[in-house]
Amino acid sequence: MTDFKQRVFSGVQPSGNLTLGNYLGAIKNWVGLQDSHETIFCVVDLHAITVWQDPEVLRNATREVAAGMIASGVDPKKSIIFNQSQVPAHAELAWIFNCVARMGWLNRMTQFKEKAGKHKERASVGLYVYPDLMAADILAYKATHVPVGADQKQHLELTRDIAQKFNNDYGVEFFPEVEPLIFGEATRVMSLRDGSSKMSKSDPSENSRINLTDDRDLIAKKIRKARTDSEPLPASMDDLDDRPEAKNLINIFAALSNRKASDICAEYEGQGFADFKRDLADLSVETLGPITEEMARLMDEKTYLDGILREGAENADKIAKPILTDVQDIVGFLRP
Ligand code: TYM
Repeated sequence: MTDFKQRVFSGVQPSGNLTLGNYLGAIKNWVGLQDSHETIFCVVDLHAITVWQDPEVLRNATREVAAGMIASGVDPKKSIIFNQSQVPAHAELAWIFNCVARMGWLNRMTQFKEKAGKHKERASVGLYVYPDLMAADILAYKATHVPVGADQKQHLELTRDIAQKFNNDYGVEFFPEVEPLIFGEATRVMSLRDGSSKMSKSDPSENSRINLTDDRDLIAKKIRKARTDSEPLPASMDDLDDRPEAKNLINIFAALSNRKASDICAEYEGQGFADFKRDLADLSVETLGPITEEMARLMDEKTYLDGILREGAENADKIAKPILTDVQDIVGFLRP
């Protein structure tokens, strides 16, 4: 394989509030990559409209995600931050990938099955080809590393398949083999109400998640109300396999405090949840409070945020455009 320059790309949908899951599974991990890698972070508004979005709400949510990234420590001086719709290469390359990817590959995508539910015929075509657009996001920059939560693993495998098929079909070594970066102690943050389902911005229960727009009191309240069980905490994480709510809270504790889940478990061994929850509520407020407050402050600075996104799109376009031109040549599009 040709030696590709190390480049990080990742994205978040502006389709509702940012959650603790987005923060611990993805954004928090991006911050540390900024000093060692070239980093590009995208608010994926084209992906968001695969399900209905009110236009004004979408515009606001796009700014909010950018504000959330910056408040979490993504530095516009170190990273490119932009919204997807403003760089044409994403949609153009996605079309080409629609012609590379096979129906059978997309039929296996679990996210489509979950989101479309029983009424597949009524889902948008965009939702079906969503993973092709995601491959385009990454490969439009020839990104080599993609930091995400565990739920995106299957999509990244598809990205690798698309890149490989493109390279094989056209007899080139053009796209890199993309490496998922799924790390930290909370790669899959679960609902605070039900440890068997993922914490998600689309869950109808507000108490199931912590939003990055929640204030300190609300954060503490949601942790106090989080579902647990009546057993004391065990000495080892291995004993929590059939106690998903307890396991989830320990993972959250570990990720927020940059410690190992096994150490947290050992510290609270033999205790019930009272002290643990009090400490977790304090820790959550202490670590998330400054982020949610900075995010709220940034939301009053629309001109600043729009400037960051505009400049980000210009810089992203400078990287993606020549790559797309090369793709057009490889595919055989006449550029008269
Ligand atoms: P999205 O918007 O659903 O989530 C953004 C990021 O947050 C992670 N995440 C979680 N991690 C742990 N626990 C959770 N409960 C949790 N919920 C969300 C996701 O794994 C993701 O990393 N398809 C993507 C967005 C996307 C993208 C891309 C990502 C579009 N193009 C290119 C990487 C590269 C998505 O819907 O993420």
